[in-house]
Amino acid sequence: MTQPPLDPGLLQLEPGLLWVQHCSDGPIPRASASAVQAYLERELKPWTVDFQRDDLELPAAVRREAARAIGASLEDISLTPNTSSGLVTLAQALDWGAGDEVLAPLGEFPSNAWPWKALEARGVCFREVPLWEGHRAGVGSWDSSAPQVTDDPEGRILAALGPRTRVLALSWVRFQDGLKLDLRRLGEACRAKGVAFVVDGIQGAGCAVPDLSWVDAFATGGHKGLLAPQGLGFLWTAPSFRPRLAPTGSWLSVEQGSDFSRSSTDFDRAWLADGRRLEPGTPDILSCAALVESLRTLNAVGVDSIQAHIRELQVHLLDRLARGAWGAEAARLKALLGADRLGPILAFHHEGRGVQGMLRMLSEATALGIHPSVREGYFRIAFHGWHTSEDADRIADCLEALS
Ligand SMILES: Cc1ncc(COP(=O)(O)O)c(C=O)c1O
Repeated sequence: MTQPPLDPGLLQLEPGLLWVQHCSDGPIPRASASAVQAYLERELKPWTVDFQRDDLELPAAVRREAARAIGASLEDISLTPNTSSGLVTLAQALDWGAGDEVLAPLGEFPSNAWPWKALEARGVCFREVPLWEGHRAGVGSWDSSAPQVTDDPEGRILAALGPRTRVLALSWVRFQDGLKLDLRRLGEACRAKGVAFVVDGIQGAGCAVPDLSWVDAFATGGHKGLLAPQGLGFLWTAPSFRPRLAPTGSWLSVEQGSDFSRSSTDFDRAWLADGRRLEPGTPDILSCAALVESLRTLNAVGVDSIQAHIRELQVHLLDRLARGAWGAEAARLKALLGADRLGPILAFHHEGRGVQGMLRMLSEATALGIHPSVREGYFRIAFHGWHTSEDADRIADCLEALS
């Protein structure tokens, strides 16, 4: 087993406490907290705040580091408060006609449903497609079967694209079952049919590098695998796609918007062509101070190496569970992992334990100092770059004991 690429000393981890739910909330590096404190000190004396450095160059540095973390170009990044606002921006910026349709897999996190459902008043339909036999969501989510390696979720999505489908919107890594969808296969088919391909990337960002070659837009918040606090995320848009979006930005989204030597009330200016045309004014600078340090921490070791490390830990845990009470689930997940169908979340299906059984397991794990999470029928273990094989062993022992 390789050394963790992220030095655990960069984080403020409690001895004995095992946090395996960055899929809910990632811990921020100490450097990110210090950067916020330093900025707050400057805000106590606003004469020490420098507009150029703090309000312009800092956000630019976030865009640059964000682009690095997802293998993209900084011109294509727009800073947004969170994932949802990135998706709302897209939903509001596209040109819709009555009868148009947004297609999404069944059981998307609501951030990728409400921005599209809000268009219903304009005659746009939000349609969900089940990804495998027995797949359920909503009130029936606990009755859902779990995805198998023999399933073809992408095939089902592509078969469901209809003549009025304008947008395919889906999570790269699904929040409850942890399935990772094949962006290349989906994007290629969408491009051939003229369908915009929009990805909610938050459950993979910081833990894997997405293949954006066929994606039109990728939205994420910063507070999970990107290890920043709530308050800032980003939207990536393909340069070929951006011209189809009406500008949704404000005074910093136009040429020379920040140049006070030119009259600010001169509105005879062009919208910027880069990602700033979609940014809602000055970003949250405190969050910029944190996110830039979090991204630097990740980029210093490389998201690729974090991805490889997470995979090793996942294999290690699943091998440990192969012969016990979780053997069937371990085999299902190992097969999915082998087919490159999982992101950083190992989602163990409840297998008849039900809500109460899973919540009991959760509170017993928490009592042992282990912090997984439960969502919609799954017990989620999310590894990141600082976890060790000892952590994986501890989880294996815990799951065996709680089964
Ligand atoms: C797939 C997915 N998208 C988005 C979010 C969060 O959205 P936002 O960044 O708007 O809070 C979550 C949070 O759990 C999620 O799992």
